[in-house]
Amino acid sequence: MGLQNGSLQLLFLVLLSGIFYLETIKLTTCYDNVNISGCFETEKKALLKFKEGLTDPLGQLSSWVGENCFYDSNGIAGGLGGEIIPTLLNLKYLTYLDLSMNNFGGIRIPNFLGSLAKLKYLNLSGASFGGTMPPNLGNLSRLLYLDLNSNVGLSSTDNLKWISRLSSLKYLNLGGVDLSKAASYWLQTVNMLPSLLELHLPQCQLFNLPTSLPSSNFTSLSVLDLSNNGFNSTIPNWLFHLDALIQLDFNSNNLQGGLTEAFSKLCNLQILKLNVNEITGEVNKFIDGLAGCPNSRLETLDLGYNQLAGTLPTSLGDLRDLRHLRLPSNAFKGPIPNSIGNLSFLEELDISQNQMSGSIPRVSRRLSSLNVLELSENPWEGIITEAHFANLSSLRELSMKKGSPNVSLVFDIDPHWLPPFKLRRSLQYLKRTGAELIRVRHHIHSRSKLEPLQGSSPTLVFQCNLKSMTNLAIYNNHLSGEIPDIWKDMSDLYFLDMSNNSLTGTIPSSIGSPNFLKFLMLSKNNLSGEVPSALKNCTNMGNLDIGDNQLSGNLPSWIGESMPSLLILRVRNNSFAGSVPSQICSLSSLHILDLSQNKLSGKIPPCLGNLSALKTEIKLDTERYDGYLKVVSKGRTLEYQAPILYLVNSLDLSVNNLSGDIPKELTSLFMLGTLNLSMNHLTGKIPEKIGNLQRLETLDLSQNELSGPIPPGMASLTFLHHLNLSYNNLSGQIPTSNQFQTLNDPSIYEGNLALCGLPLETKCTEVGGPAPGGEEEDTDDEGKFEKLWFSISVGMGFIVGFWGVCGALIIKNQWRHAYFHFLGKMKDRIIVAVSVHTAHLQRKFKQSLKKKVCGEGTVDALQAHS
Ligand SMILES: *[C@@H]1O[C@H](CO)[C@@H](O)[C@H](O)[C@H]1NC(C)=O
Ligand SMILES: *[C@@H]1O[C@H](CO)[C@@H](O)[C@H](O)[C@H]1NC(C)=O
Ligand SMILES: *[C@@H]1O[C@H](CO)[C@@H](O)[C@H](O)[C@H]1NC(C)=O
Ligand SMILES: *[C@@H]1O[C@H](CO)[C@@H](O)[C@H](O)[C@H]1NC(C)=O
Ligand SMILES: *[C@@H]1O[C@H](CO)[C@@H](O)[C@H](O)[C@H]1NC(C)=O
Ligand SMILES: *[C@@H]1O[C@H](CO)[C@@H](O)[C@H](O)[C@H]1NC(C)=O
Ligand SMILES: *[C@@H]1O[C@H](CO)[C@@H](O)[C@H](O)[C@H]1NC(C)=O
Ligand SMILES: *[C@@H]1O[C@H](CO)[C@@H](O)[C@H](O)[C@H]1NC(C)=O
Ligand SMILES: *[C@@H]1O[C@H](CO)[C@@H](O)[C@H](O)[C@H]1NC(C)=O
Ligand SMILES: *[C@@H]1O[C@H](CO)[C@@H](O)[C@H](O)[C@H]1NC(C)=O
Ligand SMILES: *[C@@H]1O[C@H](CO)[C@@H](O)[C@H](O)[C@H]1NC(C)=O
Repeated sequence: MGLQNGSLQLLFLVLLSGIFYLETIKLTTCYDNVNISGCFETEKKALLKFKEGLTDPLGQLSSWVGENCFYDSNGIAGGLGGEIIPTLLNLKYLTYLDLSMNNFGGIRIPNFLGSLAKLKYLNLSGASFGGTMPPNLGNLSRLLYLDLNSNVGLSSTDNLKWISRLSSLKYLNLGGVDLSKAASYWLQTVNMLPSLLELHLPQCQLFNLPTSLPSSNFTSLSVLDLSNNGFNSTIPNWLFHLDALIQLDFNSNNLQGGLTEAFSKLCNLQILKLNVNEITGEVNKFIDGLAGCPNSRLETLDLGYNQLAGTLPTSLGDLRDLRHLRLPSNAFKGPIPNSIGNLSFLEELDISQNQMSGSIPRVSRRLSSLNVLELSENPWEGIITEAHFANLSSLRELSMKKGSPNVSLVFDIDPHWLPPFKLRRSLQYLKRTGAELIRVRHHIHSRSKLEPLQGSSPTLVFQCNLKSMTNLAIYNNHLSGEIPDIWKDMSDLYFLDMSNNSLTGTIPSSIGSPNFLKFLMLSKNNLSGEVPSALKNCTNMGNLDIGDNQLSGNLPSWIGESMPSLLILRVRNNSFAGSVPSQICSLSSLHILDLSQNKLSGKIPPCLGNLSALKTEIKLDTERYDGYLKVVSKGRTLEYQAPILYLVNSLDLSVNNLSGDIPKELTSLFMLGTLNLSMNHLTGKIPEKIGNLQRLETLDLSQNELSGPIPPGMASLTFLHHLNLSYNNLSGQIPTSNQFQTLNDPSIYEGNLALCGLPLETKCTEVGGPAPGGEEEDTDDEGKFEKLWFSISVGMGFIVGFWGVCGALIIKNQWRHAYFHFLGKMKDRIIVAVSVHTAHLQRKFKQSLKKKVCGEGTVDALQAHS
């Protein structure tokens, strides 16, 4: 065995290392596929020198000491870098060089790589090479694979001709390489490569897509990826000569013009992506063309985000292999053709944001693979029944958000219907906006959930596989009895809303077991006892709402330590006693703290001034709760959409027995929108610097024992619309400047005998006290109070009340989308997910369940079972 007889066929050199994964470094010599553990001195030395030229901060190559040419070590992390020293040249027989995913720190690709004459495979992708590509690479006439993808900073000179010398090339990937200098003749260059099978030029800053090509050389091309460039012409004709194409990706360009039947020549296409362009016109002929292929293999057709219009042709149903059909954000109209039911492999159908009308066809006959159905934002009409979903046994995501303002979409689903699918995320737009009303006449739930028991009253039985449940929303019902102790194994539970029922008893401690729990809403029930300390385990908690119950004991101080991500803490209207624990002050994400209507005593902890979320501008990248916030002012309910919730920034300690001063530290909560300290026993003065709270909209200090003047700085609170200072011992003249000109309702100052000046009738004396004889106007207490009393009730209820026992709400991950929506950039995303699981676990809520039917009163849904 020697070099002379050519038995050294392959020197296999792979340097693979990853950023995230443990990878393997292999340096292998193979002699006619025979494993030997030795090799020639020259190769050994070359490899060692090569090693010396590399930086190897992690010591990955330390065991490579040149004993042999075989090296295989598992458990090596990424990060090789350094200089590729020309000793590699001694590896004359090197055919395979893979230096991908390393970090060469922006150095130029060394010229001498062009001298590795036998090289067939060169992979330098993701290896942080920079500068211009060396034309010497053009000497690698035997090269089959050249992958220079993802080297930020790599570019081409205006001379790209060297590529055309790589006449054996089958695979070329210059993804991300700046080819703008060679933009005008890139196509001619690659057209010189007759063996090319795959051409990947995404994000190459190419703008010029020649519409004609005298003759296509690369007719064997099977993959063409020209995505993310700036092509603004029409789809060129030469493309249709590439009849071996399997994948064609033009996504994210500016392609113009229409789609023609010429695509009928590309019958091998499996993936066709033309999304995110400016393509116009109708698609009938185009689809007819594709469908005309005797054996269409098209699996993915993505036309989303163009300006396509017209109806969808029946011939869609002939694309028998179609798995992903994405047409969102165009102007398609009319109904979904019934023929779509022929697409038995269809996994994804996205037709959102179009003008589709008519009723949604019962397309389910054979769509048993469908798992994503996106129908949002179309003016659909008609009724959806269970038949629509009958055979969609794989459906996991269903989206039917709102359509045009006049549409009424009625879900008419038999309550006894057992859905065949496990809907993980049913994205429902269930919000009442203007004239639109989406009514949910019955609710999707599983037959197996509702079981008659021997007892006399109808009883709800859980038969879901609760283990995998992530969201459970059963609020606004008449559920009574105790909260069942079933939470132990529900390790995925994320969202639990049982608010507004008639639940009694204590909060079971197993509720602390799903320690992934982020939303726990138990408000408006009749729960008693203390907050179980097992909730300490829920360190992920973002929203804890246990308000409007009969809970007692001390307000747990561990909340401040165990729930560092808490955004909302709402315990209002309970019987919590003791002092306000200062640990709460460390909740750095807290935007809403509502401790009102309890029996809390002692002083207001000055450290509440440390609540940093009430001080800083809102960060867009924090997680947000995508739901509703009900801000209840007496007689009037404002519904805020969730993102605003973080603008609400509220501190409500009203109706307690708090005493002492208002800590001046509170005046550093610059982003506070609501401060309600009313109905306590607070004494001392209103902090001088209260004017610092520039975002304050509501300030209620009424019914305390505050004395001294109204700080003049308050006049600068330009957002302040609700002020109540009544029934204190404040004195002096009411400021008249700036904002106080709008705060001119006398009732907000009444009950402060030493206060004078407009809008009170009591005139001020020269020394600033009230003039004798001035009577305060006797106002209609009730009415004024109503107007001013302002408290926050985080009703977190979505409009639709009941989503089945295992009905679920899924809160979208991209919270910030919701925020952007609020800014008017995104569409509403109110997402109600129904999660229906069928399995064994049987647990029960006692007593009756009355199911609320939206807009149509209540129905005793379970009466039949009793
Ligand atoms: C090569 O052979 C030696 C002994 O013959 C064996 O220990 C080693 O695992 C083999 N290596 C490979 C990669 O097959
Ligand atoms: C080049 O390496 C990257 C990363 O290791 C890999 O994903 C890619 O498939 C390789 N290219 C070729 C043509 O094998
Ligand atoms: C390789 O190519 C470069 C430039 O393309 C050329 O100048 C050089 O002579 C070539 N080297 C060999 C060994 O062919
Ligand atoms: C096709 O490729 C061959 C070989 O590289 C080349 O000689 C010929 O000029 C090419 N034809 C066109 C039209 O580019
Ligand atoms: C395409 O872009 C080029 C350069 O940006 C411009 O000159 C040309 O007018 C554009 N063509 C069309 C059809 O928009
Ligand atoms: C395909 O769908 C059309 C329209 O629904 C129907 O007439 C036709 O029979 C279906 N073809 C097959 C093979 O099922
Ligand atoms: C569901 O599919 C079965 C066979 O797969 C078929 O017999 C039945 O008619 C289908 N149901 C509906 C409503 O299409
Ligand atoms: C909705 O209805 C009103 C009056 O009934 C009509 O003027 C308006 O054009 C309709 N809007 C749409 C989008 O159909
Ligand atoms: C509570 O639920 C009942 C129906 O059970 C509903 O009428 C009421 O409006 C709900 N209250 C709140 C505050 O959501
Ligand atoms: C809370 O966590 C501790 C420690 O991980 C564990 O021992 C305890 O059982 C948990 N409590 C509950 C209610 O899951
Ligand atoms: C709440 O429970 C108490 C006893 O624990 C009971 O007296 C009261 O009537 C209940 N209130 C409601 C609204 O069910």
